[in-house]
Amino acid sequence: MTQSTTPSLTVTDLAAMKQRGEKITCLTAYDASFSAVIDKVGIDVILVGDSLGNVIQGHTTTLPVTLRDLAYHTQCVTKTKQRAFVIADLPFLGYTTPVLAAKNAGKLLRAGAQMVKLEGAKIDCVKFLVDQGVPVCGHLGLLPQSIHLVGGYKIQGKAPEAAQQLLADALELQQAGAQLLVLECVPAALAKDISSQLAIPVIGIGAGVACDGQVLVLYDMLGLGVGSRPRFSMDFLQNTASIEDAIAAFHRAVKQATFPSAEHSF
Ligand code: KIV
Repeated sequence: MTQSTTPSLTVTDLAAMKQRGEKITCLTAYDASFSAVIDKVGIDVILVGDSLGNVIQGHTTTLPVTLRDLAYHTQCVTKTKQRAFVIADLPFLGYTTPVLAAKNAGKLLRAGAQMVKLEGAKIDCVKFLVDQGVPVCGHLGLLPQSIHLVGGYKIQGKAPEAAQQLLADALELQQAGAQLLVLECVPAALAKDISSQLAIPVIGIGAGVACDGQVLVLYDMLGLGVGSRPRFSMDFLQNTASIEDAIAAFHRAVKQATFPSAEHSF
């Protein structure tokens, strides 16, 4: 007898959610057990983020995370999920050329990812990946892989020129074929503007409630983070009875646009 499975969401489903104004929920996951709970609750997207360097491996940055780590954790996550759409991060210096990006993206897609995410306006890489049939999620605003260049985890796009540059980069990524965009740590008003100008869904983290969806690092939203929780995150386990309930509370709050509130935005 065959087991019944729920079909996976696709990029087309995510695009349709933006069009009908339904918020997209996304959490990071790195293993089979959390992936199963997240999927059961109905979270739309699972991100196998290189934040695993912080929360799983105990590093202070995401830089030490390798392609092998990301492929391994992607395999773990995809073993138990059914419906959720899975994105995997390309690692630091894993997309210095379009050909390297494609080689590495191939490993993540073979591990079960449905899309790869890369940081910055790497237009040539995005175009090349999309040409090869690889779906791409851009990531703008605070770029953790460039942390030593930026000089700390701080809000981006505050000055008018920086805000303009972010909008221009977002439009260029979309033009290059990116089908999703993560915006991290930018003023809520700027994120609202970018989300309304882009046809593709914009998933915010520390970017205000007007984005088309929200992503949080799983360990932060369960109050398990190493070190202090970022201001834009919230401990959903605090007022709930179980991990499953906490994830369901996040899912509901995002769908109903009650999270993030002003206190979790810039
Ligand atoms: O690696 C990660 O978890 C991420 C999120 C912070 C968006 O990129």
